[in-house]
Amino acid sequence: MRAPGAPLTVIAHRGAPSAAPENTLVSDEVARRGGAAWIENDVQPSKDGVPYVLHDTTVDRTTDGTGPIRSLTSGQLDELDAGSWFAPAYTGTRIPTLAAQLADLRERGGKLLLEIKGPHSRAEVARIVQEVREQRMTDRVFVQSFDVPSLRYAHELAPELPLGLLRDTLDADPVALARELDLSAYNVGDAALATRPQLVGDLHAAGVAVNVWTVDKPARWKALDALGVDGVITNRATELSGWLSGRTG
Ligand code: G3P
Ligand code: CA
Repeated sequence: MRAPGAPLTVIAHRGAPSAAPENTLVSDEVARRGGAAWIENDVQPSKDGVPYVLHDTTVDRTTDGTGPIRSLTSGQLDELDAGSWFAPAYTGTRIPTLAAQLADLRERGGKLLLEIKGPHSRAEVARIVQEVREQRMTDRVFVQSFDVPSLRYAHELAPELPLGLLRDTLDADPVALARELDLSAYNVGDAALATRPQLVGDLHAAGVAVNVWTVDKPARWKALDALGVDGVITNRATELSGWLSGRTG
């Protein structure tokens, strides 16, 4: 949780998606150079069980291929161009495996807010945990998901990894759910939190951090900063970093 007087944490949503193709290593690099200490990603498995960094259930929007990621092998995914859809300068960019992204963060710096995207089996979550451990990144990864079973699997398999529950609408009793799931954070959509801003204080009293997504406007950064949220997940990490440094001098 954010210490008293400390700035909120800037979390770069899919890297720097307005400057570089989302969820790629070059996008992470742009976000890193812009001052973001944390990168947010989305992880899903290939047909042969390799975790890749991709948001959509298909590769159609962000690569030159077609089809559901779960129907494509790692060999097929490695052939796809994940940059030319964004701009010609990025032609040849690949969909990173989770292992490649973790290795890149370990070498170049940065922490990972790792979203387990969509329902995963226990074996699929175990593979994610295995990659994090093999890349010696356990102390620099924070797991989040909308999918409660995936969070339960992660907690059973790797109790050392902090967990965040993603929500676009509020649960009836987020504090009770946070206790039940042993959450470190409740990661809530900005519009949902605006319906019940006192939830930040309730969760903090229970020792649970609040990270808010996906917030790109300075007026909302200001409101959330005043509310005391711990982190903001944003498509504009460089601008939020600059906005924060302007406030602290
Ligand atoms: O980190 C929260 C946010 O990424 C959840 O929405 O669709 O961008 O994965 P989405
Ligand atoms: Ca995400």
